[in-house]
Amino acid sequence: MEKYRAGVVGIGFIGAAHIEQLRRLGNVEVVALASTTNPDKKAEALCVPKGYVDYHDMIDRENLDCLHICTPNSSHYEIAMYALEKGVHVVCEKPMATTIAEAEKMLAKAKETGLVNAVNYNCRFYPLVFQIREMIRAGKLGSLYHIGGSYLQDWLFLDTDYSWRLEKDLSGNSRAFGDIGTHWIDMVQFVTGLKVTEVMADFAIFHKTRKKPVKPVGTYSGMALRPEDYEEKPVSTEDYALVAFHLENGVYGSCTVSQVFAGRKNQMVLDIGGSKSAVHWDSENSNALWIGRRECENGELVKDPSILSPAASGITGFPGGHVEGFPDTFKQNFRKIYEAIGAGSQNPAAGSRTGTANFAGPDFAAFEDGLQEMILIEKIIQSAGERRWISIK
Ligand SMILES: NC(=O)c1ccc[n+]([C@@H]2O[C@H](COP(=O)([O-])OP(=O)(O)OC[C@H]3O[C@@H](n4cnc5c(N)ncnc54)[C@H](O)[C@@H]3O)[C@@H](O)[C@H]2O)c1
Repeated sequence: MEKYRAGVVGIGFIGAAHIEQLRRLGNVEVVALASTTNPDKKAEALCVPKGYVDYHDMIDRENLDCLHICTPNSSHYEIAMYALEKGVHVVCEKPMATTIAEAEKMLAKAKETGLVNAVNYNCRFYPLVFQIREMIRAGKLGSLYHIGGSYLQDWLFLDTDYSWRLEKDLSGNSRAFGDIGTHWIDMVQFVTGLKVTEVMADFAIFHKTRKKPVKPVGTYSGMALRPEDYEEKPVSTEDYALVAFHLENGVYGSCTVSQVFAGRKNQMVLDIGGSKSAVHWDSENSNALWIGRRECENGELVKDPSILSPAASGITGFPGGHVEGFPDTFKQNFRKIYEAIGAGSQNPAAGSRTGTANFAGPDFAAFEDGLQEMILIEKIIQSAGERRWISIK
């Protein structure tokens, strides 16, 4: 079995998750990490042989096959461009960049080099999300009528909650949608094989200012907050986004995205109604799929590889009754990406087209998908600002 050398840049929440899930593949060794803060300490804590302060040094010295970019959004572009220039395959966290122009240059560079390029839209890789895709592809839902759902979190509920994601120069011009709505809409386009054609958005900022800690957040306690512990910062990105959209084939949709919804820690809900049946999937109960029918009883399909479609069972790691979730989506996504690296091709598996629906391309999200998400984010911001429908083309 061929073994691959991976490096990870940006060791916060998700960088550590990448390292952990890469190890589950068995054929990928995380040989180094790069972190602007405490690289040696982080390398030791995560059992990675070497830590670098500067990702350039890691790329120059470690003969990496693949770089995983897990830094705040504003640095994705320069890091990806450097890695591609040096002949290293790239897995970039979402959103791919902070502007369309950056994403376009990243895609052009990836095409020029022929290297494998991926954006970590991991939520596609829940087995029952794959199953929905296969059901739609096989016509089990009939013609699609409308799609709805939400992505709700509460980690920015209080005005004392603070993160780099609140700062446009690090995060980009959209927050709730750019950070999590982009996962939801990627999932919709993936399962339907249809692209969004126009959007109409409404944004709200509930905390017009927030208290930015002047000392490390880790040592912070909301209860002990004193005026000298924080500075008041104006907020210019949305806490909440409502997005109505149309997909190709005349399918209607809408989603609610919020980072200030008390009690919902990280919940994605997807509802799809068609002319034959409907489905409802909830990431907080991700091993079950509700199937709605008019003429007979409703059903519930549980995650069990022995009864799922071949595509869905192919990304299922455990037998029925053994719960899989968020970390497993990373493992399955990475497995497909490293298969592409092994095959020396971005697109080893041939997909298919059904009318307007396009199920071709790799199962993982590529830079092309990342760029399309950047376009969507920008059009959604424009729509919210101008209070009107905006076409994507
Ligand atoms: N796919 C997912 O489900 C998912 C979940 C969370 C975050 N993300 C994405 O991952 C990225 C990181 O998010 P996070 O939540 O891990 O943030 P985080 O703040 O927890 O971690 C980011 C880390 O990057 C480090 N860093 C910043 N600039 C750097 C540089 N130039 N070189 C090396 N290290 C640098 C910071 O010191 C920090 O440790 C973001 O793009 C975010 O949108 C994706």
